[in-house]
Amino acid sequence: MAKSEIIVGLDVGTTKICAVVGELTKNGVSLLGHGVAPCDGLHKGVVVNIEATVPAIEKAVEAAERSSGYEIRSVVVGITGEHIRSLTGKGTVRIRRDQEITRADVAQAQEAAQQIDLPPGREIIHNIPRASSVDGHHGIKNPVGMFGSTLEVETHLVTAESNPVQNIYKCVEQAGLTITQVVLEPLATAEAELHTAEKEMGVALIDIGGGTSDLALFGGGSAFYSAVIPVGGKHVTNDLSVGLRVAFTEAERIKLEHGIATEDGLDDLEAVAITPVGQPAGEEMRVPRRIIAEIIQPRMEELFELVEEEIRRAGGLELIPAGVVISGGGSRLPGTLDVASQVLGVPVRLGAPLEPAAATGALRTPEYSTGVGLVLYAARNPRGTHHADGLLDGLFGPISRWFRRLFSR
Ligand SMILES: Nc1ncnc2c1ncn2[C@@H]1O[C@H](COP(=O)(O)OP(=O)(O)OP(=O)(O)O)[C@@H](O)[C@H]1O
Ligand SMILES: [Mg+2]
Repeated sequence: MAKSEIIVGLDVGTTKICAVVGELTKNGVSLLGHGVAPCDGLHKGVVVNIEATVPAIEKAVEAAERSSGYEIRSVVVGITGEHIRSLTGKGTVRIRRDQEITRADVAQAQEAAQQIDLPPGREIIHNIPRASSVDGHHGIKNPVGMFGSTLEVETHLVTAESNPVQNIYKCVEQAGLTITQVVLEPLATAEAELHTAEKEMGVALIDIGGGTSDLALFGGGSAFYSAVIPVGGKHVTNDLSVGLRVAFTEAERIKLEHGIATEDGLDDLEAVAITPVGQPAGEEMRVPRRIIAEIIQPRMEELFELVEEEIRRAGGLELIPAGVVISGGGSRLPGTLDVASQVLGVPVRLGAPLEPAAATGALRTPEYSTGVGLVLYAARNPRGTHHADGLLDGLFGPISRWFRRLFSR
């Protein structure tokens, strides 16, 4: 099989690096393998230690090569971090009299939408067309072929600080890989987890990772708001570490084995063995599980309150009647959905990769949705949805043309 039919998603996360190898067949994407390596070179989604990140990327990629039998040279890489912002761009073009609107007109309007004043040190990483209007008639999904004199295209613009973007590039390149696309992580995760009907109706995706919780809102079939909240699973572990006076690793164990996001329904009878810091191994203490819940609950409530704030900033909960889909390793904490629905008051469900059907075993769990989603995102957006004048333009070769044919919609 030709190499050009392979896409590799590289999720550079705060707790782990994950490489997912996908192959495009005439039936869609199938997954050939994946590799994971722990990584502590990032803080809140941003590279803070290049020396720790590069070998972790190499390890994950080597494992993915072994599991897929494919030599990995280029990757689609995910990006996140508190520095991410999103806004709506609007671009207008005049159409010549008696002419139909062409793809070039739409592209020109899309290009015009990103002519915004960016603060120094920031760049546009996505410019995703969302809706268009022709002569003031709104809600037109595809204006190509229509008659009109003024075309306006509304786009979802995602911006990032250039330095963190460059640092991710540097790590990936030092690991001997070429980057074909950079994708905002929640947009990739959404690709793997959301149903088309949810995206049409209006839905929010929240990926609770280790260092950040990433949010993407969809309506009318496409993304309209993205944000990154600097609270994730590591904060919960940290709270337990401080609250129970145990080492971080012990706090992580306690969280994974006994953690729960709400104290509702817990009594003092259920007790958990913990080893406080400084205590010799084997000298355990018992604490009621309710105490663990009491420590975790306020942090999870804070997280969903921050999510609610972002949703309000995006226009309000009424824009997401399909509710909230919660993903990422942090979503595995029991009771998370209960806290989310109490705080947000909308329907909530747990996310995991819906497709490709070939996603089995570990890849079916929420921690791997971003890696799987990166493959799907690149398959469906072969030319990317980044800044039209960005660094990556012109890098798309035969892969793109092949994918474009397959996914032309
Ligand atoms: N069963 C579980 N119960 C509670 N928390 C869990 C469970 N499994 C994983 N986690 C938590 O999920 C977090 C890691 O999630 P994930 O793998 O999605 O993060 P990441 O992608 O590395 O980080 P980020 O997306 O922030 O860059 C860790 O904090 C971990 O403790
Ligand atoms: Mg993640």
